[in-house]
Amino acid sequence: MASSDQGSEQWFDRWREGRIGFHSDSVQPMLARYWPLLGIASHARVLLPLCGKSGDIHWLAQRGHPVLGVELVEAAVQGWFEAQGEARPQADPRPGFERFVSPAQTKRAEVTLDVGNFFHLEADQGEAIDAFYDRAALIALPETARQRYALRLAELCRPGVEGLLISVVRDERRDQGPPYVVTDEEIQRLFAPNFVLERLGEQPDDRGMTDIAWRLRRKTPLSC
Ligand SMILES: C[S@@+](CC[C@H](N)C(=O)[O-])C[C@H]1O[C@@H](n2cnc3c(N)ncnc32)[C@H](O)[C@@H]1O
Repeated sequence: MASSDQGSEQWFDRWREGRIGFHSDSVQPMLARYWPLLGIASHARVLLPLCGKSGDIHWLAQRGHPVLGVELVEAAVQGWFEAQGEARPQADPRPGFERFVSPAQTKRAEVTLDVGNFFHLEADQGEAIDAFYDRAALIALPETARQRYALRLAELCRPGVEGLLISVVRDERRDQGPPYVVTDEEIQRLFAPNFVLERLGEQPDDRGMTDIAWRLRRKTPLSC
C-alpha cells in the first residue's frame, strides 16, 4: 500500500502504539444532532474518508446507509470488525486498496471498508457516492494536503451530493496537530469553489477545543 504521502507514516505508528485519542465507540454528538437536518435519503450510500474504526460507521449503517469507509491503516479496520464481533470477509478490492465487507443485517446496512490511501481513490470506479461524512478527516491532514483533499472530495461527489464536515479550532496559539486547526476562512477557501457551505453550529469541549459542523453541497461545474 502506498504510504508515502506527507504525514501518512505517523498513522501507522499511532495505531500500532494505541495513540488514538480521537477514537470513540459512540456516535459523535454532532453527527447525531446535525445529520437528520441534511435531508439525506435513508438508503443513500455514505462515504467516510479517513474513517478509522469510528462508532459513527455503525450509527450511519443502522440508519440504513450503506457505508463506504476509506482508511489507511489495516489495524483500524480490523479493530472495527473486532468491535462488531465479526470476522473480516475480504471482497474484491478496488485497484490499490484492500476491501473488507460486512454484509447488510436485519437492522444495519452493508459496511464496506477499503484499506488504502484516500488520495488514490478514483472518481470513475463506478461506485456512486450519495453523501459523505467527514469527522476528523480534513483536520487530520497537514495544510499542504488539505487542498488536495477538498478537490478529491469534490471529484468523488456528483452535483447535489451533500455531506457533513466537522472541523476544529482551539484556544492554543501553536497548531501542533493533528488534529490541525482549520479556521472558518480556510474551510471557505478550500470548499467554496465546489460546494455550497453552511455553518451549522459549534460545540466547545473541556480541552479548549471547539468542534464546528458544516453542511456541504456539491456544486457544478467542477473548478480546479
Ligand atoms: C483523526 S483520525 C479520525 C478517524 C475517524 N474519522 C474518527 O472520527 O474516529 C484520522 C484517520 O485517518 C487515517 N488516515 C490518515 N491519512 C490517511 C489517508 N491518506 N488515507 C486514508 N486514511 C488516512 C488515519 O489512520 C486515522 O485513522
